[in-house]
Amino acid sequence: MESQAVIVMLGLLYLACTLVEVHSVKYMGDALVRDGQPWSITCSEVPAGATIMWKRNGQPLVEDLASGIMHVEPAKVVNDFISSTLVATTSLERHEGSYVCADGNETHHLAIVYDVTIKVLTKNDSRVVLNCPDRSSSEKFEWSKDKKPLVESEHIRLDDKDGSNVIVIYNVDDKDIYGNYSCKVGNISSDYRVVKKPSLILPESTNVVEGEKLHLTCAVKTGDPGLKIVWNFKGKNYTKSEGRVKLSMDEEKGLNNAVLNLENIRMDDRGNVTCIGFYNSADGNDQHYDIANTLLRVKDKLAALWPFLGICAEVIVLCIIILVYEKKRNKSELEESDTDQSPDTKPASNKDSDVRQRK
Ligand SMILES: *[C@@H]1O[C@H](CO)[C@@H](O)[C@H](O)[C@H]1NC(C)=O
Ligand SMILES: *[C@@H]1O[C@H](CO)[C@@H](O)[C@H](O)[C@H]1NC(C)=O
Ligand SMILES: *[C@@H]1O[C@H](CO)[C@@H](O)[C@H](O)[C@H]1NC(C)=O
Ligand SMILES: *[C@@H]1O[C@H](CO)[C@@H](O)[C@H](O)[C@H]1NC(C)=O
Ligand SMILES: *[C@@H]1O[C@H](CO)[C@@H](O)[C@H](O)[C@H]1NC(C)=O
Ligand SMILES: *[C@@H]1O[C@H](CO)[C@@H](O)[C@H](O)[C@H]1NC(C)=O
Repeated sequence: MESQAVIVMLGLLYLACTLVEVHSVKYMGDALVRDGQPWSITCSEVPAGATIMWKRNGQPLVEDLASGIMHVEPAKVVNDFISSTLVATTSLERHEGSYVCADGNETHHLAIVYDVTIKVLTKNDSRVVLNCPDRSSSEKFEWSKDKKPLVESEHIRLDDKDGSNVIVIYNVDDKDIYGNYSCKVGNISSDYRVVKKPSLILPESTNVVEGEKLHLTCAVKTGDPGLKIVWNFKGKNYTKSEGRVKLSMDEEKGLNNAVLNLENIRMDDRGNVTCIGFYNSADGNDQHYDIANTLLRVKDKLAALWPFLGICAEVIVLCIIILVYEKKRNKSELEESDTDQSPDTKPASNKDSDVRQRK
């Protein structure tokens, strides 16, 4: 017994030592990048012998590296530690996420910001005004929509009185009013994206067995490029992976943070899990968001086992009953055959033979 305890202690000590020895990787570089600008991230203090493999939200950067938008500079080794730099020539929306260069706890989060002003239309809006950049009265301006010269219509009008150069959109269920608008003056422009109020869906409730994994996708019914997703779990907002909560991209929709993964569900995780979709509108109006909610129910690990155990118990009881019954039957049959044979036939034959022998 004592020697066993010693072995266990030694084992724990060894485990503690190996845990302490784990080195933390350091990250440096851009954290907030304007749409279309270059960026880079450097990781250092990676133990020699570790494999350098850059990943975003746990996924290798296959597409970005193949397209040449990104490249990894040759690794440098100093004092048994490796450092590696990931470089992107142009930032794209999908570049947003948490980056790692090797296995480890630390990550580096990169966010992309846009110069476009997002205007969200709701049923209540009667009109939205888009302004050209500041300009002198002699300068020419030019409106475009989705990269084509703007065409006026019943719902899209240039309001040119007082030279104010605004465009007014009357909100209707007219698909043509949504899109990217731009007013260009010389080499500067004002960019707008007119979108519908977002609409998100989550199942009403989600059941997970204790110890298993929760996987949720915030399904976007209505959403346009620029939509941001934030999750709320146990009263805390998550804009990126943190602790047990792992956020990743919905690859199908190309939407960052739309997928939530939570390992090792515990009984006290029960409650609402919420995803919030919104646009970073430059006018600071964040009224136009949507919230989807699911009630996470955690099932007892044994709960699934109870019916099975019940059946087992039933089978055992039946077996016992059958066994007991069979034993009883055999016994009584033996007794019966004893009583059948012994008093009548056996003694009689014995007597006969006795008689015969004596004769
Ligand atoms: C839209 O208008 C209705 C009625 O005037 C009002 O009750 C509602 O709160 C408004 N919704 C928004 C999002 O402003
Ligand atoms: C507006 O621009 C964004 C970003 O370039 C693009 O993804 C989107 O498809 C455009 N919207 C329309 C309606 O063209
Ligand atoms: C825009 O053009 C003006 C002159 O036409 C020039 O002074 C300025 O540097 C330009 N800005 C950019 C960002 O190219
Ligand atoms: C989480 O985000 C939502 C939406 O932006 C906000 O209304 C709420 O106050 C935030 N909650 C916390 C705890 O920060
Ligand atoms: C890894 O992260 C978790 C939670 O963030 C923390 O508790 C743990 O100590 C970290 N481990 C190491 C080796 O840094
Ligand atoms: C979860 O959300 C629903 C609807 O939004 C609400 O009625 C309920 O009280 C919430 N439950 C908890 C545990 O917060």
